[in-house]
Amino acid sequence: MMSSHFFLLQPVTAGSEVLIDSEAHPGGSFPWINAQNRRGIVLRAFPVSWVSSRETLKAIESLTTEHTKVISVSHITAPTGTLMPLREIAAFAKARGIWFHVDGAQAAGQVPIDLAALAADGVDSYAASLHKWSGAVHGTGFLWVRKDRLPEVIPCEAGAYSDAPGGSHLYPGTPRLEYNTTAVRFEYGTRTMSLPVAAGAALAKLEELGMAVISARGHGLATALHSGLAAIPQVTVLTPADESMRASMITFKVQDIPYDELYQFLMAEPYKCRCRIVTELGLDAIRVSLHIFNFERDVENVLTGVKAAIAKQKGGSMHLMPPV
Ligand SMILES: Cc1ncc(COP(=O)(O)O)c(C=O)c1O
Repeated sequence: MMSSHFFLLQPVTAGSEVLIDSEAHPGGSFPWINAQNRRGIVLRAFPVSWVSSRETLKAIESLTTEHTKVISVSHITAPTGTLMPLREIAAFAKARGIWFHVDGAQAAGQVPIDLAALAADGVDSYAASLHKWSGAVHGTGFLWVRKDRLPEVIPCEAGAYSDAPGGSHLYPGTPRLEYNTTAVRFEYGTRTMSLPVAAGAALAKLEELGMAVISARGHGLATALHSGLAAIPQVTVLTPADESMRASMITFKVQDIPYDELYQFLMAEPYKCRCRIVTELGLDAIRVSLHIFNFERDVENVLTGVKAAIAKQKGGSMHLMPPV
């Protein structure tokens, strides 16, 4: 979404190297692949470790060269819910003058986001959609850019309001446009205000509930699910066991049960668990997300469903009922 504004980052030209994480969602990776195709940047993906943040940092370090201009990572990865070590990556990028961009589409509404603290750490820009964990309408999101680096970001789109006061000129002579010095440079015409206003209401609700409360609840339930799944011999949990490397999402797979069959099984009566298949990187797994509206019984429901699927697959009874 908003990340696409970035292929007009001024320091990114043909031959510039950009590093992205191996679990980047198309919303975070395709703008860069497009820049690779159209502007000749050199794009590389570094592997995200599910074992230690140190390993992830090492992977970033080993792919960084003197030509690396941007490091772009998911705050929380979509396929496995891995929480990335933003502070450490920011320190690494800052020391080398590399632009550090974060895709927070999965993080906004799942964990507290302190943009001022991230800026102090060395994050240069942060983009997020708001229709996921924030519960806002589709088509809403935000792009935040450090104020002192805003001049380096040239908007992809320009239109009425993109200009600085008195900064545009049409006739006589050469037409020119001087961009507004604030985020208003990204405004490109008259848009509907209902979507941003509705998004504001969704964010106000999150604030009322408290992001610390929301994230603690999701994290606690996810930890219970992680432990419960890890105790089932046929299950492999892909989301990191290290609690500091995950938030409220758990991705797992079950030996000898195709992911799509397990998905159908969990989605159907009596479990009715709205999960997601994870086909990225050929993981062929199932992802469960736990929010403020979930309860311990929902975790029990998933565990019961998985056990029932295993029992069914072994030819046993599938009628393990979920708790009420
Ligand atoms: C990490 C991440 N980035 C980007 C996106 C895409 O967001 P949008 O469709 O709003 O561009 C998603 C969607 O799931 C995501 O998980």
